[in-house]
Amino acid sequence: MEKAVRPPKMERITTKALADVFIEKQIKEIRKQVGDKKVLLALSGGVDSSVVAALLIKAIGKQLICVHVNHGLMRKGESEQVIEVFGRELGANLIYVDATDRFLDLLEGVSEPEKKRKIIGGEFIKVFDEEASKLEGISFLAQGTIYPDILESDGVKAHHNVGGLPDDVQFELVEPVKLLFKDEVRVVGEALGLPHNMVYRQPFPGPGLGVRCLGAITRDRLHALREADAILREEFDKNGLAGKVWQYFIAVPDFKSVGVKDGKRYEGWAAIIRAVNTTDAMTATIEEIPYPLIHHITDRITCEVAGINRVMVDVTPKPVGTIEFE
Ligand code: XMP
Repeated sequence: MEKAVRPPKMERITTKALADVFIEKQIKEIRKQVGDKKVLLALSGGVDSSVVAALLIKAIGKQLICVHVNHGLMRKGESEQVIEVFGRELGANLIYVDATDRFLDLLEGVSEPEKKRKIIGGEFIKVFDEEASKLEGISFLAQGTIYPDILESDGVKAHHNVGGLPDDVQFELVEPVKLLFKDEVRVVGEALGLPHNMVYRQPFPGPGLGVRCLGAITRDRLHALREADAILREEFDKNGLAGKVWQYFIAVPDFKSVGVKDGKRYEGWAAIIRAVNTTDAMTATIEEIPYPLIHHITDRITCEVAGINRVMVDVTPKPVGTIEFE
């Protein structure tokens, strides 16, 4: 990756007015760089790729081709939101690939975390490559590289970039937010009119729910995890915790225990709640969730999600745990 150095005097983008100036400047630069050529972008729906997509749509419209690969490990509603926001509202040239079966078939029976990550990362590149090779006349590849990615590209976060693309791609890069920090990307995203929940999304690993569906992924347990996670997010939103907690999610281990439901024996999985606060993701503390809310979430998950018969709370800080429960 080309190293970019943020000019020492570059003003931090903290307001809509500053974001608007940045946007206008980038639109000019993108048009100058791209001309009448076509640009390809892997649009995950995460903050960075979404902001780059919105910026490029503004600058070059249909010359941008977005590819959204649904690996089947997205959170509830995420791929749908990408289609709604970019396909319908912004009128993007969007290719949606539902590759769920490809990913889940490959992951069948694989329980080792790093092996799962490698399979997901490798297959993502394959699917994206296949889509790219179907297109003609693409000269540029847009990427949501942000400044910390450049600073950390040799360090700890390197192994996280699962959605990375092969080294032999022959495109010139378009990286309009590569000098920005995450909070600045968010301000720019809001100025571009992207939905608040997309721009302020909590961090989410590239391999998605694949890392939280512990052990070998099965479709029924993945479904239970997705539904339980949606309930947790909804309750955190409603109860004012969403803006206070840095990252919160459910993990579901691959064993069942005995429970009782409607007077009958009911074997099910446990849903494990994890909610942490951190500033740099290198260390993390546990956010206290009020007990009445834990009871309410427990009631909802055990009543509404088929296959779950227990709810637990992980109270392990990082270290000794990692943020993810993998
Ligand atoms: P851990 O679990 O290592 O995670 O304490 C630190 C932070 O990184 C996020 N994470 C990822 N982010 N791609 C990403 O972009 C990944 O593959 C990935 N894996 C973990 C994790 O969610 C936490 O915020």
